[in-house]
Amino acid sequence: MRIAMIGGGYVGLVSGACFAAFGHEVAIVEADAARLAALRARRMPIYEPGLAELVAEHDARLRFTASLAEAVAGAEAVFIAVGTPTRRGDGHADLSYVFAAAEQVARALTAPTVIVTKSTVPVGTGRRIARIVAEARPDLAIEVASNPEFLREGNAIADFMHPDRVVVGCESARAREVLARVYAAVATPPLSAPVLFTRLETAELIKYAANAFLAMKVTFINEMADLAERVGADVGEIAHGIGLDARIGPRFLQAGPGFGGSCFPKDTLALVRIAQEAGAPTRLIETVVAVNDARKAANAARVIAAMGGDVRGKTIAVWGLTFKAETDDMRDSPAIPLVARLDGDGARLRVFDPQGMEQARPLLPGRIEWCDDALAAARGADALVVVTEWKQFRDISAAALLAAMAGRVVVDLRNLLDEAALLEAGFAVVGIGKG
Ligand code: UDX
Repeated sequence: MRIAMIGGGYVGLVSGACFAAFGHEVAIVEADAARLAALRARRMPIYEPGLAELVAEHDARLRFTASLAEAVAGAEAVFIAVGTPTRRGDGHADLSYVFAAAEQVARALTAPTVIVTKSTVPVGTGRRIARIVAEARPDLAIEVASNPEFLREGNAIADFMHPDRVVVGCESARAREVLARVYAAVATPPLSAPVLFTRLETAELIKYAANAFLAMKVTFINEMADLAERVGADVGEIAHGIGLDARIGPRFLQAGPGFGGSCFPKDTLALVRIAQEAGAPTRLIETVVAVNDARKAANAARVIAAMGGDVRGKTIAVWGLTFKAETDDMRDSPAIPLVARLDGDGARLRVFDPQGMEQARPLLPGRIEWCDDALAAARGADALVVVTEWKQFRDISAAALLAAMAGRVVVDLRNLLDEAALLEAGFAVVGIGKG
């Protein structure tokens, strides 16, 4: 079937390429000229493992265009995957791009079709889009559906191609039939992923509830890590011990510097606002937001304490800038407040990230050294801080680090490195949740 995807960012590009892999004809609309030129030249404007290969493999069923009208012509489903950034000041999601896209699509349609929101949108947005569309095109029976995505950056293609479930909010049998065909490739054997058809509002809230719950789970283990440090316990073993309970499960229990990214911070804040406005405030998620913000602000203090309380004139190597490994995304990365505070306290920073350097440059203070690789960043450093869990950092031996560094302090905010080998080599290692 023919599908149009409005927006060629993280969500739209991955979703569109996967729909092409499902066998659909996909037209992706990208308004940004530079990004469109890159896509047309089959250069990926984002770092996502396997994406370039997937786009190349299904090239014949994928096309990129600036023309929304051309893309929606003949499409049975039009997906809206434009950004919903946090609105300045009040924490609400900014839906202006979503509404603009919905209206443009409605005006461009020449036949009844289903407009599907893939962007994460507050509860009730689908209904508002239905009103916008009905006013724009009273002559056309246009359906609106919600189809939130659950893909993780760095693992996006696997998550999309092997979903735990597909969630569809829609109000008519016709919309249901169209979306069932969109996802037939994963809903039928051998994958047989469950497809949950529900009301618009329920689908929209499932997305926020899922992200808020996962953010809460991470924040929980981060708090257990702080407690473990005080009582002499080990948070990795705590995570293992509780994760063996099938009701808890072992995933998303890796203590770290606090969550970042383009989703958890934005979606937890938006859910807090939605719940407050609905008169059912979610105090749990309000606390998750506050605890996580405090954690990201406190990472620098952990480094300063590890260096005896003063970093002025000290050289500190920072391994990893992105909000997590296997992405180039710097949005809400814990590295940003960490580097800013250490720089502000007079430290000399030497930083390296395998994918994030370009996106990090405009976000970090001017005086820092941008290094070509991890060992170069460690050269002459009094201390090393690991912020992002890139696998390549783990491959660097304690001996190589000993030869490169001037000092012997390692602050590992991801418990990534081989602590025993570092201790053996004479390093002082400060991990997370290691009492
Ligand atoms: C998240 C959701 O997982 C995904 O379903 C949704 O579609 C988008 O938001 P993403 O933000 O790409 O995906 O990254 P994710 O892997 O979920 O990590 C989110 C944050 O939590 C990162 O900062 C990560 O470092 C942190 N995290 C995650 C931990 O600190 N510990 C963990 O065990 C897992």
